[in-house]
Amino acid sequence: MSRSTCFVSCLVYCLILIAGVQAWSKEGHMITCKIAQDLLEPEAADAVKKLLPEDLNGNLSALCVWPDQVRHWYKYRWTSPLHFIDTPDDSCSFDYKRDCHDEHGVEDMCVAGAIQNFTSQLQHYRQGTADRRYNLTEALLFLSHFMGDIHQPMHCAHTSDRGGNSIDLRWFRHKSNLHHVWDREIILTAMKDYYDNDVDLLQQDIVGNFTDGIWFDDVSHWTDCDSLHTCVTKYATESINIACKWGYKDADPGVTLGDNYFNSRLPFVMKRIAQGGVRLAMILNKVFNHGHEAMVVAT
Ligand SMILES: *[C@@H]1O[C@H](CO)[C@@H](O)[C@H](O)[C@H]1NC(C)=O
Ligand SMILES: *[C@@H]1O[C@H](CO)[C@@H](O)[C@H](O)[C@H]1NC(C)=O
Ligand SMILES: *[C@@H]1O[C@H](CO)[C@@H](O)[C@H](O)[C@H]1NC(C)=O
Ligand SMILES: *[C@@H]1O[C@H](CO)[C@@H](O)[C@H](O)[C@H]1NC(C)=O
Repeated sequence: MSRSTCFVSCLVYCLILIAGVQAWSKEGHMITCKIAQDLLEPEAADAVKKLLPEDLNGNLSALCVWPDQVRHWYKYRWTSPLHFIDTPDDSCSFDYKRDCHDEHGVEDMCVAGAIQNFTSQLQHYRQGTADRRYNLTEALLFLSHFMGDIHQPMHCAHTSDRGGNSIDLRWFRHKSNLHHVWDREIILTAMKDYYDNDVDLLQQDIVGNFTDGIWFDDVSHWTDCDSLHTCVTKYATESINIACKWGYKDADPGVTLGDNYFNSRLPFVMKRIAQGGVRLAMILNKVFNHGHEAMVVAT
């Protein structure tokens, strides 16, 4: 490798590292996807396996962070606005028409629009009418990733602080920012304190809490919604509500967040990961199983 290619690859590598810190951590996305994968009905599991590279043997969680890795590559720069929603600073609500656009005002360019877009592309898979312009492997990875992002409360938050990215503070003893606290710090601290740094143990605990635990009575309502448009509107609304009530609260610039913040916010983070997984499975089952009615997707 010549020195200049090394320089370029190192630069790209650094960009990937930087990009990686801006979304539900690797662990958050992997757990969301693993939960979904375990809830797939046979036809959907088969379609997912066929769309993924063969050597993965249907392991969706292995590629769920891919959209974060490529979002700064030239070819995928258009996907960058699809990871989040910016809502007005003076509001704690989500309004699709008002909020779902990129910084130039292009409609649908937000995480709620992207979920509808890639679901609609995948819908053509079972109908056998796939548009050759679309790469359905990529559509599956984007959909799976964005279902994680829309459930991360600070991905659907205020515009001027960039979803908490510009709120610098301390997480226990080290420097961080509010967005990052919800993306990673809470999950990583929980893994260290309660799960022996084992992501599988954490996932099992989450699954246990909706199959037979604190969320058992609630879980059948998680998938209620009439059309994909009302579904994504509901998910985004839940996120901005949590961001306002729990994210920004007690998290002014410069503060140190510790045990109080961690213990009171952890249940929300865990529930959002669980909901992302259960709802991703619901969408994939509807999209790929002939037994289900087609999803109503606005295109
Ligand atoms: C799926 O991929 C993840 C990430 O590469 C890996 O940690 C996990 O062990 C894999 N699962 C299986 C069942 O192969
Ligand atoms: C939908 O996906 C296509 C490419 O697959 C892309 O060109 C378009 O910008 C996307 N729109 C949204 C809202 O995700
Ligand atoms: C679809 O996208 C994946 C991931 O970027 C790539 O590896 C694959 O070659 C693409 N398939 C086609 C048919 O272009
Ligand atoms: C599961 O529920 C128990 C309470 O029954 C709670 O202590 C634990 O933190 C929950 N785990 C997760 C991952 O939500």
